[in-house]
Amino acid sequence: MSLAGLAKSLHLKTVRLRLRPLAEGDTMEMARYLNDREVAEGLTYSPYPYTHDMAVAWLKDVAFASQQDRVLYWAITDGEMEKFMGIVGFSLYREHDKAEMHYWLGRPYWNCGYATEVAKALIPFIFAKVQIQRLEINHFTRNGASRRVIEKCGFVYEGELRAYVKRFGKYEDVKFYSLLKSEVKL
Ligand SMILES: CC(C)(COP(=O)(O)OP(=O)(O)OC[C@H]1O[C@@H](n2cnc3c(N)ncnc32)[C@H](O)[C@@H]1OP(=O)(O)O)[C@@H](O)C(=O)NCCC(=O)NCCS
Repeated sequence: MSLAGLAKSLHLKTVRLRLRPLAEGDTMEMARYLNDREVAEGLTYSPYPYTHDMAVAWLKDVAFASQQDRVLYWAITDGEMEKFMGIVGFSLYREHDKAEMHYWLGRPYWNCGYATEVAKALIPFIFAKVQIQRLEINHFTRNGASRRVIEKCGFVYEGELRAYVKRFGKYEDVKFYSLLKSEVKL
């Protein structure tokens, strides 16, 4: 199945949450949560300030990239699918059989174990559904919350690159991790 088909068909349930395809109706909440400096501080590429037009444009870009098998993203919602809470997804590098995982949640939903719950559900899913050998993830060294999510998911630490990116005018050290297919219980 193509990634676009997979993203559209997927409604994944975790203990407390549901993942569903992204929808145009998510853009207001997306913009509201991403226009929060504390959320933006954890992300490498998300613009800040963040406007509704940016969310609309991003959704279009994602739909296009998803058609080309380059990304796979979902909305994270509450169990009743009433509240949009954040986004989780993967960039796919098909020629290398690898993917990179991304996630963010609106600030009201932090520190409830949600990112860990979503990541733990999606890791076996991506290895089972998409032909990948390696799943990678990274975080700014100062991002303690993301580090904990990554640790709780069992990623293997691979090292740190110093001044790897520049964000808000500051050079950021970045820590890198991965999981190989043989290390995941499917
Ligand atoms: C990173 C993020 C997704 C985590 O989501 P979350 O749902 O709050 O994560 P969880 O609740 O599953 O786990 C968070 C863990 O980090 C810990 N934590 C929170 N803030 C921390 C900090 N400043 N330093 C160290 N640990 C911290 C929590 O105590 C928890 O660990 P514990 O279960 O051992 O107590 C969320 O903070 C976020 O969206 N941040 C902005 C965007 C971002 O950074 N995305 C990731 C890019 S790599």
